[in-house]
Formats: sequence, structure tokens, C-alpha cells
Amino acid sequence: MSALSFASMFMPQRVLTALTAAYFKFTTWQALGQKEYHREPTTINHTTMNIHLVPALKDNYMYLLVDKESGNAAAVDPVEPEKLLQKVEELQVNLTTVLTTHHHWDHAGGNVELAKLRPGLIVVGGDERVGALTKQVKHGDEITLGSLKVKSLFTPCHTSGHICYFVDEKDPAVFTGDTLFVAGCGRFFEGNAEQMYKALIGILSELPDHTKVYCGHEYTLQNFKFATHVEPSNPAADEMKKRCENLRNEGKPTVPSTIGEEKKYNPFMRVKESSILQYTKTSDPVEAMKILRSEKDSF
Ligand SMILES: *[C@@H]1O[C@H](CO)[C@@H](O)[C@H](O)[C@H]1NC(C)=O
Ligand SMILES: *[C@@H]1O[C@H](CO)[C@@H](O)[C@H](O)[C@H]1NC(C)=O
Ligand SMILES: [Zn+2]
Repeated sequence: MSALSFASMFMPQRVLTALTAAYFKFTTWQALGQKEYHREPTTINHTTMNIHLVPALKDNYMYLLVDKESGNAAAVDPVEPEKLLQKVEELQVNLTTVLTTHHHWDHAGGNVELAKLRPGLIVVGGDERVGALTKQVKHGDEITLGSLKVKSLFTPCHTSGHICYFVDEKDPAVFTGDTLFVAGCGRFFEGNAEQMYKALIGILSELPDHTKVYCGHEYTLQNFKFATHVEPSNPAADEMKKRCENLRNEGKPTVPSTIGEEKKYNPFMRVKESSILQYTKTSDPVEAMKILRSEKDSF
């Protein structure tokens, strides 16, 4: 995406969106040709909600969050609306809401079509560039989904309007888009290390450790290559890496992990740890964040 992000400095949003769409369609076609990215749809049973993971494009994840009590459902980043609606039909749930993490095409690119297919949908996001947006949220805003409360966490950096969505229950969940990945974090397209530090350390690390993490992409194995390079003697990283390799060999997603797990092996969540500060040769965790990200960009 670096050529595209470079282009984004010069092109109007409309042209850029079309270009990005073409790029993702091409890379998806390439990937499907190679059958390299197959992932099975999966359902995770929480106490008061079910979370259905639906693979999309080359390596994206869409999610259908269903409140068990009311049967009301929210789609997270439904970039392939028809595939998502198949799931809605199959489960016979009441789709009321779209939760958009950020405006990039591979996350928000299905919003306009979905809103056309299902008039009356509430489309939530933190950025005016999100298609079909009906409800712009800011940090701490709550959205009601049947008996569930979904809290918006403002986490700008990958994009300046990025939102993570936290569902607080006995068995909590957070949808992290392109801010936090399993063993990694998103690129700093529209922000800086200070903002990512605030997002990962100030906000996401403060969630309960048993919060399940549902991120926007299956990037886990690439991320572990970098994580184990940065911390070659971290047993938690070795163990989780092996677990994820086994899952991928079976065509299964590596999502979800938990916030507590990420703190043990994700270098970007560990910038206050002495091992990371030593590796980046600084005593400032924000500087460590900056150094790690720029190394990962060309890893
Ligand atoms: C989900 O988990 C609950 C216990 O937390 C259990 O009672 C229920 O049967 C499970 N449902 C499914 C579909 O596995
Ligand atoms: C779906 O949920 C909305 C909002 O709670 C409600 O107004 C509507 O009646 C529900 N529709 C069905 C078919 O249950
Ligand atoms: Zn993105």
C-alpha cells in the first residue's frame, strides 16, 4: 500500500477510493488463485453474545456480533455485503447496525451497498470519510445493540479517525481494526508513534486481560517473524507462534487472541519492557514504538 499512500497525498478521495478498490480486487484475485489464504468461518461463544468471524478479500476479517437475548446483530467492517448477508440469513438474526473501524476501502468499502440493501441500518464510524455514515462517534460513546453496550475507543494513528469497539460483559471483546493485530500493529498512515503509544498502551492495554481481540486482518504469521526477531528469547512468543502456525496449516484463523496474551509477545504492546528498550537502544517507550514501526515497515 505504500505507493497508494504516497498517491493519497496528491489525489482527491474519490479517485483514490476507486484506485484502492482496484488494487484490493487484484490482490484478492491473486490470492484466491493461489488458495493460500483460505480461512474457515468460525463462531466464538461469549456469555451474552456470539461473534461470527467471516473471512473476506485476501486476508480481511468481517465480524457479525449477535446479542443472544434480542437476536439483534451488528456487522463489523462488512466489506463483502452479500457474503455478510448470507450469514445474517443463515442465522436468522436482525441486522441493525454497522460498526466501521476506519475508512480504508478494505474495511468500509461495503457500507454503501449494504445500506442500500438494508435501508434503516445505523452506520457507525469515527470519520467523515466512512461510506453511508449515519452516526459519527467519539471516544467513550456507547451504542446499544439489544442488551449489549458497545463502547467506542478513539485510536487514531493508522488513520486519523480510527475507532476500536469494546463490548463489556463477563467475557468481553474488542474489535481492533487496523490498530492492534495478533503480534503486531497497523502502519502509521495518518499518525505518529505518540498516538499509537496512547492507543496500545494507554487505551487497549487497560482493558481486562481476558478481553478477546478481534482484529481486521490475518497477518499473524508475518507479525511473529518480526516479534521473534525483536525478542529471540521470549518463550510466550515461541509458544503462540507455534500454536498459530498449526492453526494456519489447518486453514483456521488465529483470531481471537486476548489482551493479556498480546502483552506477553506483541512487541508494540511491550514498548515499556526492558527487552524492547534494549533492542531499540532508547529509554523512551514512545521512541521505541517509532523505531519498531519503521523497522517493521521494511522488514
Ligand atoms: C455457549 O456457552 C454457554 C456457557 O457459557 C453454554 O451454555 C451454551 O450451550 C454454549 N452455546 C453453544 C452454541 O455452544
Ligand atoms: C430489529 O431490531 C430493531 C431495533 O431494535 C427493531 O425495531 C425491529 O423491530 C427488529 N426487527 C425484527 C424483525 O425483529
Ligand atoms: Zn487500514
